[in-house]
Amino acid sequence: MTDDVDKTADHNRKLFIETVGCQMNMLDSELVVAALRKQGYELTGDVQDADTILFNTCSVREHAEHKIYSALGRLKFAKNARPGRVIGVLGCMAQKDQELIFQRAPHVDLVVGTGQLAEVPRLIDEARSDRQRSLAVSLDRRDGTRTTVAESFQSYDPLREPAMRPSPYQAFVRIMIGCDKFCTYCVVPMTRGPEQGRPPRDILHEVRVLADQGVKEITFLGQTVNSYKHQQDGRTWRLADLLHAAHEVPGIERLKFVTNYPRDMTDDLLQAIRDLPKAARYLHVPAQHGCDEVLKRMKRGYTVDQYREMFARVREALPDCAVSSDFIVGFCGETEEAHQRSLDLIRECRFKNSFIFKYSPRPGTKAYDNLADDIPEDVKRRRNAEMLTLQNQISAEDNAAFIGRAVQVLVEGYSETQKKQGLDTPGPKQLTGRSMCDRIIAFEGNPRLTGTLVDVEIHDVTPTTLIGQIVTRAVQHGSGDLLPILV
Ligand code: 5AD
Ligand code: SF4
Repeated sequence: MTDDVDKTADHNRKLFIETVGCQMNMLDSELVVAALRKQGYELTGDVQDADTILFNTCSVREHAEHKIYSALGRLKFAKNARPGRVIGVLGCMAQKDQELIFQRAPHVDLVVGTGQLAEVPRLIDEARSDRQRSLAVSLDRRDGTRTTVAESFQSYDPLREPAMRPSPYQAFVRIMIGCDKFCTYCVVPMTRGPEQGRPPRDILHEVRVLADQGVKEITFLGQTVNSYKHQQDGRTWRLADLLHAAHEVPGIERLKFVTNYPRDMTDDLLQAIRDLPKAARYLHVPAQHGCDEVLKRMKRGYTVDQYREMFARVREALPDCAVSSDFIVGFCGETEEAHQRSLDLIRECRFKNSFIFKYSPRPGTKAYDNLADDIPEDVKRRRNAEMLTLQNQISAEDNAAFIGRAVQVLVEGYSETQKKQGLDTPGPKQLTGRSMCDRIIAFEGNPRLTGTLVDVEIHDVTPTTLIGQIVTRAVQHGSGDLLPILV
């Protein structure tokens, strides 16, 4: 990568970046870091050491914003001590709060929304040279036609740099930006703008570039990834078409995609997954709630029965597919009875895992304007804990079914436990990776296996992890039976 570095740039810049939120944000940060590295910036993990400090932010829940405002508050004195430092707030909170960020943290130099990230390197240079603050954000959804607002949100997808990825073998590829569903609790349609698919030729070009760079696993990203639609050369491309095309790219071993919207889980997509051996047997399809009245207040656009019908089609087409969900507890007007319906849905669907969130009212949303946040915090907390206990019990029971069986794992590297223990301990190291059904597997092995596919026989489980040991492809038992290799 050093060949690509702009030799005229200042080579001693130290960049600290903190990223919160979803995979979209992780990808955005990766691309911003890549652009800055090209200009000679070096990454540092020590904020005090940095002369450029960036926060890539999330607005989905209030708590995430509080954390960023506190971190900015702590930097006030650091900025006074070294006024040449540039401090920037990027992403969803930048688009949502705009000028308010300068008011609450006057030492911030840049506020750059999700649709303007390509401007970051230039704006940092300007902030450094003329000490002017800059605000680069897209249009508010009410401030223009759909087209003009959409044009103000640019998808930031420069050519990829292998050295900038968290893992050389795995990469996110954005296939769309924005969201038009307007669920009443959610700020994303405002912070990420109108739904816009990227052209299939750009997406597939990126997949080929990544495969040439050694990537084996591609995860397509979109807020409602299965709603993807794009007209190219007189035909409509859907997610199923992208999966078929990416499946042909030499070097790619696994294809995943997140996050799905229940009503757009079409049969052609399920058939594509069934027919494509490299497509992960894993679907993240957030239900959000198990009670019709709550779903209606959330404006999710489906009933619990319609979710069940979708789930049954997934089970029918893909019996071995793991499904995970998101749930919100304590949404406006959620009765005890309604909460029980969410628990019932978890019992019925037996999700691989569920991400559970306490409702957090977000300015700019319909729920914030029209519905009272009437569930006390302690009730939200209790419902959250009940749901987590139930989901963990189900995850542990279903994981236990893997004991004695082998799963194919894409090795991602050292496990968190091994990293904590240190990497220079003698003997084999604990590694981790994921199965085709997105379960986390921990096992001992040589770190050189990172980036390869290995088979691991499972002998123990927790609610979140399968623990096992590496086996050769066909596992011989005394009886001569072959252990089935599960996805
Ligand atoms: N409060 C709590 N959870 C929320 N989510 C989105 N908006 C809110 C909110 N205002 C959750 C949804 C979504 C996930 C990414 O975050 O469950 O699927
Ligand atoms: Fe938010 Fe709903 Fe869009 Fe998901 S589908 S990003 S929850 S508005």
